[in-house]
Amino acid sequence: MLDPTDLDAHRAEGAFTGLNKALTAMTPEDVIEQIKMSGLAGRGGAGFPTGLKLQFTRAATGMPKYVVCNFDESEPGTFKDRVLMQGDPFRTIEGVILSAYAVGATEGFIFIRGEYPEAAAVVQEAIDTLYDAGLLGKDIMGSGFDFDLSIRRGAGAYICGEETALFEAIEGKQGFPRLKPPFPTTHGVFGRPTAISNVETLALMPDIVRNGGEWLKQWGGGKSVGIKLFCLSGHVKQPGVVEVPYGTTVRDLVERFGGGGFDGAPQAILMGGAAGGFLHPDNFDTPLTNEALNPLGAPIGSGVVMVFNQNVDLGAVLKTLARFFVHESCGKCVPCRVGTVQIAKLLDRITGGDGAPDDLARLESLGQMMRKSCLCGLGMSAPNAMLSTLAHFRPMYDRLIAGGGA
Ligand SMILES: Cc1cc2nc3c(=O)[nH]c(=O)nc-3n(C[C@H](O)[C@H](O)[C@H](O)COP(=O)(O)O)c2cc1C
Ligand code: SF4
Repeated sequence: MLDPTDLDAHRAEGAFTGLNKALTAMTPEDVIEQIKMSGLAGRGGAGFPTGLKLQFTRAATGMPKYVVCNFDESEPGTFKDRVLMQGDPFRTIEGVILSAYAVGATEGFIFIRGEYPEAAAVVQEAIDTLYDAGLLGKDIMGSGFDFDLSIRRGAGAYICGEETALFEAIEGKQGFPRLKPPFPTTHGVFGRPTAISNVETLALMPDIVRNGGEWLKQWGGGKSVGIKLFCLSGHVKQPGVVEVPYGTTVRDLVERFGGGGFDGAPQAILMGGAAGGFLHPDNFDTPLTNEALNPLGAPIGSGVVMVFNQNVDLGAVLKTLARFFVHESCGKCVPCRVGTVQIAKLLDRITGGDGAPDDLARLESLGQMMRKSCLCGLGMSAPNAMLSTLAHFRPMYDRLIAGGGA
């Protein structure tokens, strides 16, 4: 394993050859074309096509333009970006510089979760090393392209991973999300065109540019192209980060390619984190694709795969998730501010033995209302886990209501 901040060792393994190729033999439009051709879609949760994002930011009027690397990684159960950045910060930073070249940005920020001091130190050392080596700053690699990069730190709010709240935080304000549209590609940080991408998304760009857009397509297909990092945790024998092609089944991910198998008979898997949903064991043979998992209410999201065995009280887990959203709701809009509290209260009532059968209809309609009317992704996804259990774990609720609670 390479020393994370030994630039010579990383360059000997091919680091910055993608950037060199882009700066010497490709126009910014060529870079965007290769990213579009690769089918790369965002790995931060929303899955927006990265090439289009770069194209829109390049086409936007107004200077300066910015690129932002979203290293907030605050989704419960997600730790892949930390592993990537602490192990090889250069790969993601090369992706940041490629993005900047593609869109015409002169400055960029890496927004790092406040609770990641070790990762922040590694990234800062890597940035300093790259300035010394002429890979950041003025006239990068003698190409005439100038680009400055610096770190901004979060202060512990989950909402600051949401792109527009993150911009507010970078601007020194409280992390309240903005109404969209306008979108970041035209009105991002400081109101300027901005391409914001997740750490893992950016880390894939150097190989795409170096090997050509077709390279990523050798894995997966449809809207789920390439390879994806998954964060395995909970009741698996071997927790950790595993990279597999899209299309691998959930069961194979846990039993064959990572995880070392289930630790105890599984009851459910929380896919996608707190904003995701629970997968029932009947569906463990589903392929890891957005197309297959979204209809089951258990999205891939940022790649969380958290296993719960039969000894776990799923009602208690749901209550913890509900309280998480009460705590993390920024309070800017009513459906989320009130809806998160109402969901938590109803779950308390049901698990406490005072639930009535029509409480389930109340939960369902609250959840659907929040999905439709919340201002940002936090509120829209807050009811997801609860709704997935109403759809696939109904007997649990029936038992709680009929049997007087947990
Ligand atoms: C509440 C909330 C938290 C989020 N947290 C993160 C995060 O920690 N990291 C991340 O990359 N994206 C996060 N996102 C998604 C970002 O808003 C944005 O879609 C993403 O950074 C774009 O990068 P990508 O296209 O490479 O995925 C979050 C979204 C919401 C609604
Ligand atoms: S949905 Fe929730 S987190 Fe998002 S703006 Fe509204 S109150 Fe804030």
